[in-house]
Amino acid sequence: MAEVVIVENAAAAGALVAQEIVELLDRKADAVLGLATGSTPLGVYKALAQRVEGRDLSQVRGFALDEYVGLDPAHPESYRSVITREVVEPLGLDPARVHVPNGSDETIQHAGADYEAAIEAAGGVDLQILGIGTDGHIGFNEPGSSFASRTRVKTLTEQTREDNARFFDSIDQVPRHCITQGLGTILRARHLVLLAFGEGKAQAIADAVEGPVSAILPASAIQLHEHATVVVDEAAASKL
Ligand code: GLP
Repeated sequence: MAEVVIVENAAAAGALVAQEIVELLDRKADAVLGLATGSTPLGVYKALAQRVEGRDLSQVRGFALDEYVGLDPAHPESYRSVITREVVEPLGLDPARVHVPNGSDETIQHAGADYEAAIEAAGGVDLQILGIGTDGHIGFNEPGSSFASRTRVKTLTEQTREDNARFFDSIDQVPRHCITQGLGTILRARHLVLLAFGEGKAQAIADAVEGPVSAILPASAIQLHEHATVVVDEAAASKL
């Protein structure tokens, strides 16, 4: 059963989760953070950057949830670029310690296994930040993903491509494939923090928190986790 925290807005959620991360870093200077992309976690990264200003975070390790396949890593919307811009640079992290799945076509065959091995070698993720898709996906685990799945290549649904088209000039430029941590990978993190804001996420949140645990709603996997926190505003909580 996930703990649900209702906050006033995204800024309040950012402050709350940033505080949680600061406490983790106080206990463990080389903590392993699970990083999500999308617009939802940006407030967390912003609040965290303010709180850790001047602090040496060079020991911190990070693992992003997912990446597009076949998009040049230098493309501004590759998740490698997004994580560099929104997390690594503002927090002053060591880029060599922050990993993003490798979506290059040449290495894609073993990229999933390599990524799992890197997470394992780091001792697992301490705190995993999660957003949620309108169809209930986490990472890029679309409906139907196995709860035991590990990092692998997936096909994006049309819904997700449409949702993400706003980051590109047109939907034609949104990649069709991605590489994502599996639900099984995500469930191994020691603490899950799922964030959602706005009415558009209300149904997905209600299904994730109170619906049946089902692969049809990938985020419902959080109900199987012993330490999952859901941070939502009133609008995203409105169907709970
Ligand atoms: C993408 C990401 C997810 C994210 C989702 C929601 O599909 N792969 O990790 O949770 O978008 O995005 P947003 O936070 O912008 O609503």
